[in-house]
Amino acid sequence: MNRNSKKTLGSVVTVFILLANFGCRKPDYEAMAMDITKEAKTNLVQKLTNALAEGGTKQAIPFCKQNVMAFTSNLGSKKGVLLRRISDKPRNPMNLVTDEEKKIFLEISGNPTKEGEYPVKTVTADHTVTVYVPIPTVGLCLQCHGEPNVDIKKETLDVLQKEYPGDLARGYKVGNLRGLFSVQFTR
Ligand code: HEC
Repeated sequence: MNRNSKKTLGSVVTVFILLANFGCRKPDYEAMAMDITKEAKTNLVQKLTNALAEGGTKQAIPFCKQNVMAFTSNLGSKKGVLLRRISDKPRNPMNLVTDEEKKIFLEISGNPTKEGEYPVKTVTADHTVTVYVPIPTVGLCLQCHGEPNVDIKKETLDVLQKEYPGDLARGYKVGNLRGLFSVQFTR
């Protein structure tokens, strides 16, 4: 092989490798889901903190009822995904896990790291990829999701009773898995 044909072969191989690499590169669904849920969490905590500062839990609960689901699904549409918050013990029955999601919830809640962090799980189907991102309980959540009459004040319980008569989302402690974001991509 002379020098020129070696060079040509080299270029062909390089182009081939580049093309093959390009074709195989899959979108990083998990990284995209982490970005979207981070934005959702930051926004929700901000809205919640503002509502609490304005009128305490009494005002924040009806505010959540009217705005949070719409905010979540709108953010999803804006990002081109189906975005939901789900839980095995929801406050709003619309957020209840399906049977399939319940298995995933149990798997995630049963496998925290030593530091108490829950894993992210990705489920790939024929036309969708769904990333489940854990939502752990932190101190701020207890006034509405903690132990009734210990963390949740009587006046808050009264509002919850009125707005969510079938409420299951109580009795949580810091570190418990409160829910999951389900981020569904179509592929
Ligand atoms: C002011 C009271 C209040 C506080 C504080 C609060 N929540 Fe909630 N939470 C609610 C209400 C009300 C709902 C039901 C919203 C709806 O109707 O979609 C809810 C629903 C949820 C859901 C959806 C599943 C379900 O139960 O319906 C998750 C997940 C959740 N909260 C997590 C948290 C986390 C995590 C924190 C702390 C960072 C927190 N919440 C703090 C009132 C609160």
